[in-house]
Amino acid sequence: MRLWFNPASPFARKVRIVARETGQEKGIEEVSIMVSPVKPHADLARENPLVKIPALTTPDNGTLYDSAVICEYLDSLHKGSALFPKAGPERWRELRLQALGDGILEAGVLMRYENAVRPQPLQWSDWVAGQFTKARAGMDALERECSSWGERFGIGQVTAACACGYLDFRFPDENWRAKHPALEKWFAKVSQRPSVQATEPK
Ligand code: BEZ
Repeated sequence: MRLWFNPASPFARKVRIVARETGQEKGIEEVSIMVSPVKPHADLARENPLVKIPALTTPDNGTLYDSAVICEYLDSLHKGSALFPKAGPERWRELRLQALGDGILEAGVLMRYENAVRPQPLQWSDWVAGQFTKARAGMDALERECSSWGERFGIGQVTAACACGYLDFRFPDENWRAKHPALEKWFAKVSQRPSVQATEPK
């Protein structure tokens, strides 16, 4: 299998963590590419019409996207404990937590593009502030919930870890730890996992 990714992308990081948590990283060739919303990558465009990463080219199911689909696909291929519960309230709890983390990541990536890619005269500070409000509210929700997670590291927690890591990477001045002590403690612990260490954004 071939994974199209960028080492800075938090959505690609979700997939890379799941690949390692499920022992499949050796079967995945990671292809690092530069992506830009205004200059589509020609090779990726042949695989994913949305020209977005992550995208996973599989032997039997074509090319899969987005991160949630790829992570669940990888979870279906191993025999260890499931990162996506199969059914019942556990499944909806896990998918909602993934959506919460994905929402923080979306706000973060949009802010990053606005600050780093959009020409300065076109930048809109109120819009960035609106994204920050979403990201902060999402982090507040993770703070309220994380003490109930125990040792679990399912797709919801994987996504939460990527959200903490992306804010550290792109928005260090935000200092999210100041208002989120329980999340800080949780993130310090999961940051010891080899899968999290091996996928530090750069
Ligand atoms: C970033 O540089 O922050 C980034 C790169 C690729 C996808 C998303 C974010």
